[in-house]
Amino acid sequence: MLNKLIPVLAVAAMTVPAFAQTVTYTKDIVPLFKENCSECHGDTSPLFKEFKKQEEKYTKEKLGPRMDSYPLLISHVGWPETGAIMRRLDDGKASPGGKPGNMYRYLGGDEQERQKNLAVFKAWVGEGGWNLNRWAARGDVPAVTKEQIDKLKLAY
Ligand code: HEC
Repeated sequence: MLNKLIPVLAVAAMTVPAFAQTVTYTKDIVPLFKENCSECHGDTSPLFKEFKKQEEKYTKEKLGPRMDSYPLLISHVGWPETGAIMRRLDDGKASPGGKPGNMYRYLGGDEQERQKNLAVFKAWVGEGGWNLNRWAARGDVPAVTKEQIDKLKLAY
């Protein structure tokens, strides 16, 4: 019985797709963030509200809002900065104008790495959760819906 089962199990293990394992903050996002984002969004960066008070000054210093923890990062996905991660990191495919977000270029040194890391972020946020909408509609950008919020994964 076991002899017959072993080849079956081996084949099953080989056909597991890339993201069959849940993408999590601690396992996947932390190393990616340390490598590509923490220089400007780490522990020397101001909290978002503080950043907003002196946006120009901090931007000149190449300091964006601090995002180096789970609660801080997800506050730029779900609320209050709804969709900021998606708008800034998208490669242009999810945006009507086709223009990449201005943080997309930091996702990696070349296009292949950027696409790979974008796929990790997208899988973490969740399919259907990845949209560029805001909490309240602004200009051409609609308000996020309850259905879209329900699709956020953001596993820790
Ligand atoms: C060289 C510095 C630098 C790097 C590296 C960088 N950022 Fe930024 N980021 C900034 C600055 C400065 C701002 C604020 C100015 C602006 O809005 O463009 C910002 C803004 C943002 C915002 C908008 C926040 C909001 O709610 O409005 C997000 C989201 C973001 N960055 C995510 C990332 C991620 C994720 C990475 C890594 C893949 C990254 N950034 C890498 C400097 C950087």
